[in-house]
Amino acid sequence: MKEAAMLKYPNSPEDHVVLINFFGKWLLAIENPKLCKIVLSNSEVFYKYAYAGLQEGTLSGDLMGANILSESGPNWKRHRKIFNPVFVKNWDTMTFGLKTKQLLNQWDSLIENKKSINVTEWMPRITLDIFGLEVLGIDLNAIKENTDMYIKYQRMMELFNDFILLHLPFVYKHFNFLSRVKNAKEAINDFNKIIYDIIEDKKSRKEKVADGDLLDRFIMASESEVGGLSIKELRDSVLITLIAGHDTTSTSLICTLYNLAKYPDVQDKARREIELVMKSNDKRAIPSYDEQKEFYYLSAILKETMRLYPSLSSLPLRIATKDFKLGNIDLPKGTLVTISVMAMHHNKSHYENPDQFIPERFYDEEQNKLKCPMENLNDYKWLPFSGGGRSCIGMQFAIIEQRILTAMILRNYRIELSDELKQSEIPFAKNPILHPLDVNLRFIKI
Ligand code: HEM
Repeated sequence: MKEAAMLKYPNSPEDHVVLINFFGKWLLAIENPKLCKIVLSNSEVFYKYAYAGLQEGTLSGDLMGANILSESGPNWKRHRKIFNPVFVKNWDTMTFGLKTKQLLNQWDSLIENKKSINVTEWMPRITLDIFGLEVLGIDLNAIKENTDMYIKYQRMMELFNDFILLHLPFVYKHFNFLSRVKNAKEAINDFNKIIYDIIEDKKSRKEKVADGDLLDRFIMASESEVGGLSIKELRDSVLITLIAGHDTTSTSLICTLYNLAKYPDVQDKARREIELVMKSNDKRAIPSYDEQKEFYYLSAILKETMRLYPSLSSLPLRIATKDFKLGNIDLPKGTLVTISVMAMHHNKSHYENPDQFIPERFYDEEQNKLKCPMENLNDYKWLPFSGGGRSCIGMQFAIIEQRILTAMILRNYRIELSDELKQSEIPFAKNPILHPLDVNLRFIKI
């Protein structure tokens, strides 16, 4: 198929596609559920497009390695086969709850001083602490202080904002005399050393814990797999789990707290539901696994928040590895495709009053159930976790974490917008992962 065929794609409004010239390549942006379904169900045709290169020796390669998120074809299958059993478990709500209790204790003292709380600072810290415990079995204690590991992790993560080193691989590879390059390599080595020590320590232990943290489970899964995972691959798997799950979850939490503050009726209704479900009268009680499953209205709030503010506003680029008929559109091999989740979620042909916050659109009041369970990603209209075989593997983790945190916060405080937020919408940085800026909220003890 000739590339020019792209120029003849049907331009009917139902197609909901836009053709863009992306640095000399055709890029098709889609927001049509039917076409999204085709793309996401055909991951053997639509490979992930790694434009910056992930080879060892480049910055992105050194940061993330070849990993489940970036790989395609047989390599991705191999990673996913190892990840699947690691993530299939009933997440214990204790870790989420104990950390939330610590957070509430910290907030109590701030609230006494009548300060508003910048949740944009706190949510990344608590989600990181929860990751530390669940993934590595280590308390990073980021909500209490800037521990050595937290500082090293932050220093390394800042490299994702270094546009020059990420996009000009030769500078990172060959210009070692530049302090920018030296600092970047040092930041990665410092963090790697910590992770490699933890891996070595865990590997050397005789007994393996099937119910342990994710790293224990990665080690077990990789040992039972033919060929296993090398130490470097184990480190990359841990890191990609952090990268894929940390900012995404904290963004959703920040936006949820903002919506609860902005819509007091919704907040009251959610609090009533939580009080009805919870058996213990202790306001700091941790919801059990079964209790959190019954927070249906709260789940509708989370679902509606992730519709309005999907952490990934568009899915990472795919490339067609062969000529392909996408609905009515002839896609030549080599065409890039992206799914604009934000455009789809805000399109009035998919949602009534798409820009308004209406959790009831997902909630069946009579049955007290979600109209469609969160896990059901089959209509391809709600795609914060993507869909098809490459949908988010940490979805359960993220949903339970959000339910526990918001439920415990709501039982303890009434949330209000700070004066400056009453005048403006939620501010965002222009990052690939939505990144709210300075969301200051008031928490009043109840
Ligand atoms: C609200 C929180 C989260 C959101 C919105 C989210 C969103 C997504 C999306 C959209 C994808 C697909 C990316 C693509 O198409 O290339 C994805 C993949 C992935 N997510 Fe999440 N995620 C969240 C939390 C998590 C958590 C907590 C973890 C781990 C504990 C996690 C681990 C992963 C992994 C490993 C993949 C790659 C799956 C694959 O390619 O096979 N995510 N996530």
